[in-house]
Amino acid sequence: LENGLMRTPPMGWLAWERFRCNIDCDQDPKNCISEQLFMEMADRLAQDGWRDLGYVYLNIDDCWIGGRDAKGRLMPDAKRFPHGIAFLADYAHSLGLKLGIYEDLGRLTCMGYPGTTLDKVELDAETFAEWKVDMLKLDGCYSTAKERAEGYPKMAAALNATGRPIAFSCSWPAYEGGLPPKVNYTLITEICNLWRNYDDIQDSWKSVTSILDWFVKHQDILQPVAGPGHWNDPDMLLIGNFGLSFEESRAQMALWTVLAAPLFMSTDLRTISLQNIDILQNPLMIKIHQDPLGIQGRRIFKSKSQIEVFKKPLSNEASALVFLNRRTDMPYRFHSSLLELKFPRSGVYEGQNVFTGDIISGLKGDDNFTVIINPSGVVMWYLIPIKSLGPMHLSQL
Ligand code: DGJ
Repeated sequence: LENGLMRTPPMGWLAWERFRCNIDCDQDPKNCISEQLFMEMADRLAQDGWRDLGYVYLNIDDCWIGGRDAKGRLMPDAKRFPHGIAFLADYAHSLGLKLGIYEDLGRLTCMGYPGTTLDKVELDAETFAEWKVDMLKLDGCYSTAKERAEGYPKMAAALNATGRPIAFSCSWPAYEGGLPPKVNYTLITEICNLWRNYDDIQDSWKSVTSILDWFVKHQDILQPVAGPGHWNDPDMLLIGNFGLSFEESRAQMALWTVLAAPLFMSTDLRTISLQNIDILQNPLMIKIHQDPLGIQGRRIFKSKSQIEVFKKPLSNEASALVFLNRRTDMPYRFHSSLLELKFPRSGVYEGQNVFTGDIISGLKGDDNFTVIINPSGVVMWYLIPIKSLGPMHLSQL
């Protein structure tokens, strides 16, 4: 969507995966979906280095709605959001953050709160703009394919008509199976800034790999439709929660980065470990993720030994490589060359191991190299060409 927003994939925090629909503020006041939870996460985003690295979205998901007023306007749950959403938006803005909100195109949200029926699309868009909300995730439970085909474009137009720049996250493709011909990605890129294509992520490595497998299987369709202002969304980062090991956490971060995926954390930033902060706040990782070309990477190689290589082209002819080990035995010594990974024979590369910081220097196209990749883990490289040698180039001078 060409509304000037999200020229690089968005980064931030989204409540759903970690905090779900916990509305029990009596028994669990620190973890229930409430104004307090979002204010505490806002404080952490601003004070613990997140915002300055680009994690600026603070996003509410399902279970915030209290009902509609006499004029039909949405109201937050009065007990859990006593000062209203405009207050939260002001609070986020005062800290240099952006506030995202959630609704669902249909009679009810997935968790059973009042949804946005077709006749309420304009009113709800106006309400969000009045509250100074910066992003809307529009879910698709309780809607028919016909209603979605009308409602998503209608919401895009309604948000645009408010005059307030509001990023638009569409769950539309995910409700149509994620693939053409049911999904018209040309239209989706025109009306949405990002869109969920596939299943909800759950707190496990199995869930990460099933999402990854689906994205890889359909990469010829999905890869070309991503770009500045419009991104595929394989769903939230699990890092900091319970289901991923250290290696798996690094792997999700590296893979989501090369896929140019939105980086929405969904974890408790009040208690996250330093080890997980390191994974999420790696400056070179974020530089790769925020590369201005905004090209979604692809899987370019798969070996019989269950090693897969992903590549993301970057500006200034740089690139990022992720070597993923699907094995579950022991660290695997993967032998390859850049030539085998379709780099030009004549190139000479310099770069860095994104996690260890080790420098890679003078690596030529046809040099053999070995990377040691831990089980369910990755090695990630950032590579820049330092010069081009070889007959092809010399003859062109
Ligand atoms: C389904 C979505 O895909 C999830 O991300 C989350 O928003 C839930 N609905 C909320 O009910």
